[in-house]
Amino acid sequence: MRQAGRSLPEYREVRERVDFVTLCRTPELAVEVTIQPIDRLGVDAAILFSDILVPADCLGLEVSFEPGPVIDRPVRTEDDIARLRSADPEETVPFVYETLRHLRRELSGRVPVIGFAGAPLTLAAYLVEGQGSRSFAQFKRLLLGNPSVAHRLLDKITTLTEAYLEAQVRSGAQAIQLFDTWAGLFDRNAYGEFGLRYARRVLERLRPTGVPLIYLALNAAHLFEEIRDCGADVIGVDWRVDLAEASRLLEHRFVLQGNLDPCAMLAPTSVIERRAVEILERGRTLPGHVFNLGHGVLPETPVEHLQALVDAVKRHGVR
Ligand code: CP3
Repeated sequence: MRQAGRSLPEYREVRERVDFVTLCRTPELAVEVTIQPIDRLGVDAAILFSDILVPADCLGLEVSFEPGPVIDRPVRTEDDIARLRSADPEETVPFVYETLRHLRRELSGRVPVIGFAGAPLTLAAYLVEGQGSRSFAQFKRLLLGNPSVAHRLLDKITTLTEAYLEAQVRSGAQAIQLFDTWAGLFDRNAYGEFGLRYARRVLERLRPTGVPLIYLALNAAHLFEEIRDCGADVIGVDWRVDLAEASRLLEHRFVLQGNLDPCAMLAPTSVIERRAVEILERGRTLPGHVFNLGHGVLPETPVEHLQALVDAVKRHGVR
């Protein structure tokens, strides 16, 4: 469950001492907060503590978090793209890889470690827009108005993402998840041209590593016919679409991950348990199912509710 840590008092305690960027860049602390939800809640996997904007360093871009990402100088023109650096991730963001190696030692097989990156379309959306947005209008203006320049940017980001993730696997990541948070903003044509094509390139490049590959596109049920060709093993499904329906649209070719609404976690624990059981039952009709929320944990989620969910899934799920 992404950002499970953020609702824990022990995470807030660490965050009172250091800011988010320092936390990402300090392996001892990143390891500590990665493991907090494992120790406290007993979830079955650890997700590297980092952010999808971290590899922007390799392009020579400065990012701050306020609390969402803000890019110092957004990438808008051909010149901006030409100026991007393409530095080696292992030299530029060594703390990511140190954190992974340290995590594997510290966990010694207790749970697997998931590495991740943003999908090229989603990372490009932040780099062009300069920050989060409802419509990502600046980004769409570039894609639709100047597609050849957009392709050059996506190509650079894809090459970086391939290297960034291959090195994560070499450093111990046992599965890789690609987050395509903003895929759903696009129609099928634009998603096929600017989204799927580059996500698939990353996933194909990772295939020989042998680790399971997870692809999550949010708000994307209208894109499932394209997503079928993404080359992942597991498709993340948000709460908007029923798991059985998603599997049908994906031709039953994937294990699905999901899909409890994160807001349901604010309801009484009896409601959470009932919804969890419903989703697990749906999951049994699929080729495979990894229980998860449909998106990240909301920071205001009570810890007891997270615990009740984990316990219910362990009671009613099958391994
Ligand atoms: O689950 C984890 O804690 C693992 C690490 C992780 C973070 N971000 C830490 C983080 C992961 C996997 C991400 C991915 C990420 N980051 C995505 C893709 C997944 C998604 O949520 O759709 C996106 C779009 C981002 C960009 C980003 N980073 C946003 C929009 C924000 C603000 C979020 C918010 O609700 O405040 C961040 C900051 C961020 N990344 C935090 C964490 C723990 C909050 C930092 C803090 O305040 O302590």
